[in-house]
Amino acid sequence: MSRKRLLILGGYGNTGRLLAELLLKYSDARLILAGRSLEKAEAVALALNGKDKNPRVTPLRLDAADPFTLRQAFKGVDMVVVASSTARYTENIASEALKVGIDYFDVVFSNNKSLILKKFEERIKKTGLCFITDGGFHPGLPGVMVRHLGAEFDHMHTARVGSVIQIDWKSFDLSETTAIEMVEEFRSIDMKSFRNGRWVKPGLKGPEYIRMDFGAPFYRRSCVSMYLEEMGKLPTIFPDLVDTGFYVGSFNWFVDYVVMMLLFPILWLFPKLGVKPMSRLMVWGLNTFTKPPFGTLLRCEASGVKSDHPLSLALTLSHPDGYYFTAAPAAACLLQYLDGSIRKPGLHTQAILTKPHRLIKDLKKMGIEIKLETSH
Ligand SMILES: NC(=O)c1ccc[n+]([C@@H]2O[C@H](COP(=O)([O-])OP(=O)(O)OC[C@H]3O[C@@H](n4cnc5c(N)ncnc54)[C@H](OP(=O)(O)O)[C@@H]3O)[C@@H](O)[C@H]2O)c1
Repeated sequence: MSRKRLLILGGYGNTGRLLAELLLKYSDARLILAGRSLEKAEAVALALNGKDKNPRVTPLRLDAADPFTLRQAFKGVDMVVVASSTARYTENIASEALKVGIDYFDVVFSNNKSLILKKFEERIKKTGLCFITDGGFHPGLPGVMVRHLGAEFDHMHTARVGSVIQIDWKSFDLSETTAIEMVEEFRSIDMKSFRNGRWVKPGLKGPEYIRMDFGAPFYRRSCVSMYLEEMGKLPTIFPDLVDTGFYVGSFNWFVDYVVMMLLFPILWLFPKLGVKPMSRLMVWGLNTFTKPPFGTLLRCEASGVKSDHPLSLALTLSHPDGYYFTAAPAAACLLQYLDGSIRKPGLHTQAILTKPHRLIKDLKKMGIEIKLETSH
């Protein structure tokens, strides 16, 4: 079988570069690193190829805003991997991938992106292509963790996933496009969670907060509900489930309370003009007020019944580097795609399509710390 060629859009960004490194290490795929700067793509490709006699990485200048150049670039490629802050160009990327007949994967967190991809769902199926969306850490891992633990129960009743995202933002070059995309996405976050067997939207009191104990050095923290497409599928997969949801951790007091409180009224009053100043305030707040200890962590707490006895399990995945924690699950998912074991026609999410036990095993191999606690 010939080696697959993947085009990574945003291949020299924070996530894209780490993803490329992992794919070079754990697969034999050939990679094209693309973005709007040929200079940056060349520098990263050169570093990744090193002294390799058969270089596997090629740089490419490519702008997702331009459908024609996307089409040219997609010819001769098996899959486009979207690791770029290009949610607004999802229509371009998906429709050109469909025209050329290549598969698709993304790590983009965007409700708008999901709506656009759903529009293409029937065409994706008809053309026999495999589109995998919501790759990475969150979205991407919470659903995998619940599925992984779910196999241990005869009946799983509850499964909540909480997160800690305490990143040393100053050490990364968070681009303006990415910051703008983050601010635009905050507007469309859905905050429903699954309570007593039904999805509940936040009431007048606002979104639902839970407290979860993440252990040292983060201990007990508040997290707020955030609906992810992958969590929506879980009650169908586990019919005994009555309580589930994903709960995102805080950034820091300034971003949580000052930026978020200003964001909604400002973007309501100035939907276009407000985005840039709010994204600058957010980046300043992230850089200034996020303090150590740094780390990124996901914890799934599940309870239910096994052999007529109550059982509680907690699975914690963590890594000090939030971008590595994004790239590693994406790479682990792509390993399953590259060997053909999960490739099937249709629009899928990483969390529901992948084989959870293998994904967790591969994450461990890639250096993600994994801890399982059991209590009967
Ligand atoms: N699922 C998860 O767990 C998770 C976690 C973190 C981030 N993400 C997502 O990952 C994406 C990338 O985030 P990041 O922090 O890695 O961003 P980043 O470091 O700022 O990199 C963004 C990349 O996208 C490229 N890009 C931007 N606009 C482009 C365009 N029009 N055409 C082609 N390339 C373009 C940039 O290059 P140029 O600007 O030079 O073109 C850069 O290479 C974001 O959508 C973010 O939401 C997901």
